[in-house]
Amino acid sequence: MSQPDVFPPSEEFVRRARVQGMEGYRALYDDALRDPEEFWGDVARREVHWFEPWKTVLDWQPPAAQWFVGGKTNVSYNCLDRHLDGPRKNKVAIQWEGEPGEQRAITYLDLHRLVVRFASVLKARGHKAGDRAIIYMPMIPEAVVAMLACTRLGIIHSVVFGGFSAEALKARIQDLGAAAVITADGGYRRGKEIKLKPAVDEALEECPTVRDCIVYRRTGSETTMKDGRDLWWHDLDETATEDCPAVPLDSEHPLFVLYTSGTTGKPKGILHTTGGYLTYVTATMKWVFDLREEDTFWCNADIGWVTGHSYVVYGPLSAGATGVLYEGAPDYPAFDRWWRIVEKYRVNILYTSPTAIRALIRQGEQWPNGHDLSSLRLLGSVGEPINPAAWEWYHRVIGKGRCPIVDTWWQTETGGILIAPMPGAVPLKPGSGTLPMPGLLPAIVDIKGNEVVPGQEGFLIMRRPWPSMIRTIWGDPERYKEQYWSQIPGAYFTGDAARCDEDGYYWVLGRVDDVMNVSGHRLSTMEVESALVKHAAVAEAAVVGKPHEITGQAVCCFVTLKKGAHDHTALGKELRNWVAHEIGAFARPEEIRFTDALPKTRSGKIMRRLLRELVTNKTVAGDVTTLEDMSVINTLAAQHDED
Ligand code: PRX
Repeated sequence: MSQPDVFPPSEEFVRRARVQGMEGYRALYDDALRDPEEFWGDVARREVHWFEPWKTVLDWQPPAAQWFVGGKTNVSYNCLDRHLDGPRKNKVAIQWEGEPGEQRAITYLDLHRLVVRFASVLKARGHKAGDRAIIYMPMIPEAVVAMLACTRLGIIHSVVFGGFSAEALKARIQDLGAAAVITADGGYRRGKEIKLKPAVDEALEECPTVRDCIVYRRTGSETTMKDGRDLWWHDLDETATEDCPAVPLDSEHPLFVLYTSGTTGKPKGILHTTGGYLTYVTATMKWVFDLREEDTFWCNADIGWVTGHSYVVYGPLSAGATGVLYEGAPDYPAFDRWWRIVEKYRVNILYTSPTAIRALIRQGEQWPNGHDLSSLRLLGSVGEPINPAAWEWYHRVIGKGRCPIVDTWWQTETGGILIAPMPGAVPLKPGSGTLPMPGLLPAIVDIKGNEVVPGQEGFLIMRRPWPSMIRTIWGDPERYKEQYWSQIPGAYFTGDAARCDEDGYYWVLGRVDDVMNVSGHRLSTMEVESALVKHAAVAEAAVVGKPHEITGQAVCCFVTLKKGAHDHTALGKELRNWVAHEIGAFARPEEIRFTDALPKTRSGKIMRRLLRELVTNKTVAGDVTTLEDMSVINTLAAQHDED
């Protein structure tokens, strides 16, 4: 393999960086390696306000971790109240822009007031620590307010991405047994109103635990409200008080549950807790994004995903940053919307996904080139491996060759960034997340758990616990143990394949399980299959990820139909819409292929591996000895040639 290009940080960047040069990084890393508990104790004391100090930094009884045991803190207090006694009081916390063009600059003091008022409303309605609330909102400041108001009282929130369907929403509300749903009439995307309340109404027909459905009026369109259940946010605000202090909570008090796709059809609720999560996201905000007081930071992930939790809301606010929040699409009204925003708010740090970059590349350089992007000093990437062409364009066209790119590897389960360069320290290699954060001990192992030699591919695992790690799967501790801690005893199994090069740099290659990565969104093949077989015409379905130029992977479905006459063209369209309705528009399959049979093993298991190979390489060369009927794969391959 040829040596990749290496991009060391410029002297200018190093001079002003928080962590300077490889010596700076090594010192931190070695410190943490030597005595992790002392290291994390120092970080937690420095980065977080504690109402009561902890007694033990870590209680580790694999796979159960407790961090900062006995300590009491509150996330909302750390993101708001503690900034009000100093120069950040009147600093802008959120620069919001609605898709139609409205602007709101919300200071820390303003945000504090909004959160206290909304928390007082929740409290008055009897919602309290340990209860669950679902947040299903567009990208508006009130979504952040709702999250912080929950954390102020210890209510466990679960944000459901606004693109999820009523079905998906219902499953999450039911799994959590939520007592409140906080939503809006709708939001704007590509110039149109996307309604949210009708999906909530549909979901709530079968959610008896929900007492309150609070609706923020964002678009003002016609909205049906159900008596005794639905309440307008603005009506409740009239009863709000400004006396609602943050509740001191145990460090291990559950903070939020975020559902993500696993290897089965049922999404799993990843549970994160308070003190460790807050410590870790605050620290990585500074290490990875080299945050300075005067920076304007823009992470444009949706708050419905973990990136939105950790690096739109909790990390930036806890670190006292000014963050940009934009409601709409990157291409509305034209392909330069993001670059307009960077220019207008003089954004210094931009954090986005390879999918978004590839979509923008396709539109041409004239869009960014028409704007002054000179405020940018650092770029970030997350969600999937970044391919060299996307890296080069991001670096040259957006960063003008000046801005380091931090390629950050992490997961919903990890809570925060685990592998990424500290930009003033670590020379970059395009496509590599480079080196681990302090206190993390990754390894690449084979199926037996033996470490492989540098350069060889294997499973990425973590040998040590870290403060923002997943604590359990909501309601399913067995699945937690089985999925993350059983493959390689004593280590956290990421589900990713990776290799480590001679310099100790990590190169993540992708998932090793039946999880697809579509536009940086995690989607399980089984989830799509379950949705398909719910359709009356479908007998059986097998779903695989197919390489896609823009979205990384696309959903490709092989479907066998029940007996009867079918119009394949019409049914193909119907099934694509069906999946979008069952899961959400982002899961809409790119392709539906009808087939008389699916490749199976003799014991009847669908061999997705062969289908994956077929859609990737157009032929099947892999091991087919367990295949029951070879003619199935030959027929599928022949069909492929005709396409
Ligand atoms: O396969 C890895 C990929 O995304 C998965 C995690 O997805 P999710 O939980 O939705 O979180 C996404 C945002 C943190 C990982 O298992 N992934 C994430 N970041 C990278 C990545 N693959 C390669 N490089 C990355 N920087």
